[in-house]
Amino acid sequence: MHYMLDLLRQKGQKIMKYNIEKASLKDSKEILNLQNEYKHNLISHTSLKEDLEDKNKVYLVAKIGSKEIVGAIGISLLVDHADIIIIITKKNYSNLGIASSLLSESIDMLKKLNIAKLFLEVRESNTPAINLYEKFKFKKISIRKNYYPNNNENALVYKIDISKT
Ligand SMILES: CC(C)(COP(=O)(O)OP(=O)(O)OC[C@H]1O[C@@H](n2cnc3c(N)ncnc32)[C@H](O)[C@@H]1OP(=O)(O)O)[C@@H](O)C(=O)NCCC(=O)NCCS
Repeated sequence: MHYMLDLLRQKGQKIMKYNIEKASLKDSKEILNLQNEYKHNLISHTSLKEDLEDKNKVYLVAKIGSKEIVGAIGISLLVDHADIIIIITKKNYSNLGIASSLLSESIDMLKKLNIAKLFLEVRESNTPAINLYEKFKFKKISIRKNYYPNNNENALVYKIDISKT
């Protein structure tokens, strides 16, 4: 799927295109590097590599040109639902709709797979991510107290009914 990315803010007058495609093992380093810009690590090198080889996990990446990865989403496919493992956008490219297009593509993919529900966990301090999910009409269904071991932060659990989107 092709997307146009309006990079007026970053790159003068240039309008650039990006593609969303399925990630492969060779993308692991770049996906991992996306996290370096943020405070909390979302996934380890080992689990990412395992995930990229697991047929029940799907990673989509937003790529500019043939190489530069500017965003990624990881989804775990279970029998009757799916979980978001990670969604992340390169800081320089944030607020341009990349995470939204990754999420839309994922929801379309899940619809085709007849998976009816999508769940995720998010730190309660993660306002950008919470806003993104609420924009997509995810509903908060529970709170996991002291869920994150590094700072005992609570996790909010969100769910969307894909069949109703
Ligand atoms: C959350 C994140 C993925 C959003 O990526 P993005 O590509 O900038 O998101 P989009 O441009 O598609 O924005 C979609 C919505 O997210 C929300 N949002 C994005 N950045 C935001 C910010 N800095 N502050 C508040 N809301 C924000 C807004 O509701 C926005 O909709 P709007 O443009 O209509 O206001 C990005 O900030 C990120 O990578 N964060 C670090 C990783 C992370 O915490 N991931 C979530 C847990 S796995």
